[in-house]
Amino acid sequence: MISFHKKSKPKVNFGNLFSYLNHVRRRFMNATECIKGRRSIRTFTDEPVSHELLEEIVEVARFAPSWKNTQISRYVAVEGALKQEVADKCFEAWKGNADMVAAAPMVIALTYVKNRSGFERDGSFSTSKEDRWQNFDTGIAAEAFCLAAYERGLGTVILGIFDENKAAEVLNIPDDRGVAAFIVIGHPAVNPEAPKRKEVSELLTFLS
Ligand SMILES: Cc1cc2nc3c(=O)[nH]c(=O)nc-3n(C[C@H](O)[C@H](O)[C@H](O)COP(=O)(O)O)c2cc1C
Repeated sequence: MISFHKKSKPKVNFGNLFSYLNHVRRRFMNATECIKGRRSIRTFTDEPVSHELLEEIVEVARFAPSWKNTQISRYVAVEGALKQEVADKCFEAWKGNADMVAAAPMVIALTYVKNRSGFERDGSFSTSKEDRWQNFDTGIAAEAFCLAAYERGLGTVILGIFDENKAAEVLNIPDDRGVAAFIVIGHPAVNPEAPKRKEVSELLTFLS
């Protein structure tokens, strides 16, 4: 972060200093700051995502709640040539996502174990929502993952526009798993403003 010239004159790299101070600030933020401060990041530096850091993030995300604690979410971290194949084959519906995945250092396929969340032991649905609790659980897990990443200085964006069958094929996902979403992850190269949010009065209704 701070290097010294031959004459011992300190030379501060303000980019690194800023990112270090940002990192320290995030480690001391509270839950509200973390939830409100996280943004979808779509542009990343070339810095790779450390596997140890990713393990730390999943260590936190695994505490997300799930249907009867079934913990169906599984994270498949994709890099290198396979990531390029994902970019080339899984986002035909929207090239913006393909470009993002191609340029990012890593993409996570958020997968899930099928037929557990929202299901009874005999295989029947527990509620009228049928198998949709699977998506509910992976959605919660995705938010926990993104918040844990944000706390550690990483940026993420959840991608919902992708070809589920192509993704399963390219990543060789077994039949008893589904692909819920992709999450692009990396070191942010941008610091976007929060898109406008609806007011509480529009979101909240009290009944008695
Ligand atoms: C289920 C879901 C699917 C999404 N799919 C995409 C996507 O395919 N591509 C993309 O660029 N952003 C996608 N996003 C990111 C949203 O556009 C973003 O969360 C929203 O605009 C709010 O911005 P913020 O995350 O910075 O608060 C998705 C987000 C969610 C929760």
